[in-house]
Amino acid sequence: MNRWLAHPAAKPVVWALLALPFGWLLWSAVQNTLGANPAEALIRSLGDWTLRALCLTLAISPLRQWTGWHQLLRHRRAIGVATFAYGTLHWLAYAWLDQGLEIDALLKDVAKRPFILVGTLAWLLLLPLAATSFNRAIKWLGGKRWQTLHKAIYLIAGLGILHFFWMRSAKSNYAEVLVYAVIIGGLLAWRLRGVWRGGGLRRSVSPG
Ligand code: HEM
Repeated sequence: MNRWLAHPAAKPVVWALLALPFGWLLWSAVQNTLGANPAEALIRSLGDWTLRALCLTLAISPLRQWTGWHQLLRHRRAIGVATFAYGTLHWLAYAWLDQGLEIDALLKDVAKRPFILVGTLAWLLLLPLAATSFNRAIKWLGGKRWQTLHKAIYLIAGLGILHFFWMRSAKSNYAEVLVYAVIIGGLLAWRLRGVWRGGGLRRSVSPG
């Protein structure tokens, strides 16, 4: 597996796999097969993929340790960038299809619906992580400061879960929220275990 992950073709394959859900959603939108409420389906699916990509980003370090697939680290940046891309597409779909790209309406909605405020906060916190995901930015920041900044990914994951929970609370439909909360809680517990053992969060959140 490590040999395959280190292969020059692996990077484009990973990027293509990460883009696949978006391609599928775009195709379904063009074919008009998104269901009775295509705008809602698109916004929700992009939200789901943001959370899935976030879980995948957090899973890289434990997966590396459990499987010995150390070359997974080569692909973590792509998965992180995909998280940001899906989050941005999710926000854009909402701003455009739900709010008609009107700043006034957007601001009013943020003030009116707490789950929108929490989602916005999570997305805003993703911005500095995305902006510092390139080699030059890592060099400029320095490894230590980069690591400290990128710990925000846990806060973002928590806000993502809260956003999802709050949205689903209108219909008391928590089954999926619980699945994601258990996954993210488990991944966080794994990291904290490293802290208690004296390794700190540093090793698992390294620039790679
Ligand atoms: C890291 C950031 C975010 C994550 C992880 C996230 C995740 C999610 C998830 C999982 C859903 C539910 C999908 C479903 O029901 O299957 C959702 C719904 C939604 N999110 Fe987000 N979201 C984020 C940021 C945002 C932002 C910035 C906005 C807008 C300002 C936003 C607006 C919405 C809306 C409008 C819905 C659908 C609500 C409805 O259908 O009534 N989200 N999001």
